[in-house]
Amino acid sequence: MRIRSILNKLIVIGLISITICFFLIMRLFSDASSTKVSSRSLHSTLSQPKLAVIVPYRDRFTELLLFVPHLSRFLHKQNIPFTINVINQNDSYRFNRASLINAGYSLVKDNCDYIAIHDVDLLPLNPNLEYRYPEHGPFHVSSPNLHPKYHYEKFVGGILLIKNDHFELVNGLSNKYWGWGLEDDEFYLRLKEANLQITRPTNIATGIEDTFLHLHDPAVRKRDYAKIFNQREITRKRDRETGLHDVKFELTSKTKMTIEDFACDIYSVKLNCDYKLTPWCDFSLVNKNKPKNVKPKI
Ligand SMILES: *[C@@H]1O[C@H](CO)[C@@H](O)[C@H](O)[C@H]1NC(C)=O
Repeated sequence: MRIRSILNKLIVIGLISITICFFLIMRLFSDASSTKVSSRSLHSTLSQPKLAVIVPYRDRFTELLLFVPHLSRFLHKQNIPFTINVINQNDSYRFNRASLINAGYSLVKDNCDYIAIHDVDLLPLNPNLEYRYPEHGPFHVSSPNLHPKYHYEKFVGGILLIKNDHFELVNGLSNKYWGWGLEDDEFYLRLKEANLQITRPTNIATGIEDTFLHLHDPAVRKRDYAKIFNQREITRKRDRETGLHDVKFELTSKTKMTIEDFACDIYSVKLNCDYKLTPWCDFSLVNKNKPKNVKPKI
């Protein structure tokens, strides 16, 4: 009888110890797995996709003074690792926004996962405009229903996010667009042909008046709308010849600049013009060779 009750007690004690051991082990495992989770999330912050903002640029210093601090604050709030890269066209050809973007991409691609093709005169105001990694396809921040000026459905200018793989897939932008306009419409065709799905901001409560601040003042800044030689005809077509792979330029300087404590890199480049392919890159040719009725509006 006594032995039996001692045996019973031992069994109970044994059962209790086993249970305690079981819980201790479980605890240990869950600790281990939670450490794993937190180290993984730490890793993902470290390897968060990096954004390179690419700003095609010439003679817009007062706009740059506002742009760099504004966009830096805006992106800091979204915790996005970014650099601002101003691609300054330092040659005497007409402005070539598309080639500057191709050149800028070639210069920064090794240090980023995606780019924002960004006009210097368009400042995002609504904090819900996201600049996150566009994993599945280009993200057009300045969509036609938000941009102050351009409202056609195929518009992809202003601010467009695109990851490196996709930018390379479509061979960047055409290098044939000297002077103002149309290069983004041709870029739209490249995106469509590659079957890339363009997405745009949703659930934005602001509209065309108050989503962006548009610094451009047409009274002060005249745009170069001139169409010379057969430029009009050529630039209406999809260009299957030129792009990222054949953009030619020379980097004349790289300068780090700080504006209100916010850094940007200024890359000055001299673009190369293939006169046979795009004689309209150079106004001086017009003055020498063209009949008097062709007057470039600069
Ligand atoms: C622009 O190009 C000229 C040479 O044509 C060079 O002397 C000058 O340093 C360049 N400017 C910048 C900012 O790189």
